[in-house]
Amino acid sequence: MDIKLFETTQELDAYAAALIVSAVRGNPEAVLGLATGSTPIGIYAKMIDMHRSEHISFKRATTFNLDEYVGLRSSNDQSYAYYMNQHLFAHIDIPSEQTHLPNGMAEDLPAECERYDRMLQEQPIDIQLLGLGHNGHIGFNEPGDKLSGGTHVVELKEETREANARFFASMDEVPEYAVTMGVGSILKANNILLVVRGADKADIVKQALTGPITTDVPASLLQTHPRVTVLLDREAGRKLAQ
Ligand code: GLP
Repeated sequence: MDIKLFETTQELDAYAAALIVSAVRGNPEAVLGLATGSTPIGIYAKMIDMHRSEHISFKRATTFNLDEYVGLRSSNDQSYAYYMNQHLFAHIDIPSEQTHLPNGMAEDLPAECERYDRMLQEQPIDIQLLGLGHNGHIGFNEPGDKLSGGTHVVELKEETREANARFFASMDEVPEYAVTMGVGSILKANNILLVVRGADKADIVKQALTGPITTDVPASLLQTHPRVTVLLDREAGRKLAQ
């Protein structure tokens, strides 16, 4: 794992955006794996800047998002589809039919998971951006006795719903289920870019990167991937040297 620490948010965002954009520069048809949450917002803003100032085009790129809540329409401002439009897609030149998220409104969710996996098989991800949950989840792959390889429906842990409640009007509105790419699909990405910020994640960063590889910390499975870059701010990385 290539681990880099950054003093400022701006430097971290610029570095992450440059890595993602370089995949598109190298191959205009690059397939990008994208994430939501608060962590990537500055990275997407920087990608939009680069699109505008350096004329980086995403016209032929394809994107796959990690996850989506079950039961929220894309017009709901808490859905990840809405988030992606708001923070990235509406501001770059990617055609909407080349952007993919699991459909959490699908009537037949198992069929939707199969459809998503088929698309991922046909268009393997060149670089997958990941954030990290406080309990070590990646996408919505929650800690447990076993992890799923492919896209699947997951019941969210109470701690995850609480962590994400800050984006909703009340805890009751936080969905109980989500559709997420599995750890197996994530590990199939050619390159992985894990980004973590904040003192509240210092412990889980240490466990994920240096602790045992265990389903109790889904992100620890990233240790098995040959091309992972980890970008941390000072606070998130402060326990690593200890
Ligand atoms: C959510 C998302 C994850 C994200 C994580 C951390 O539950 N499903 O993909 O990485 O939370 O979010 P944040 O970046 O807001 O801390």
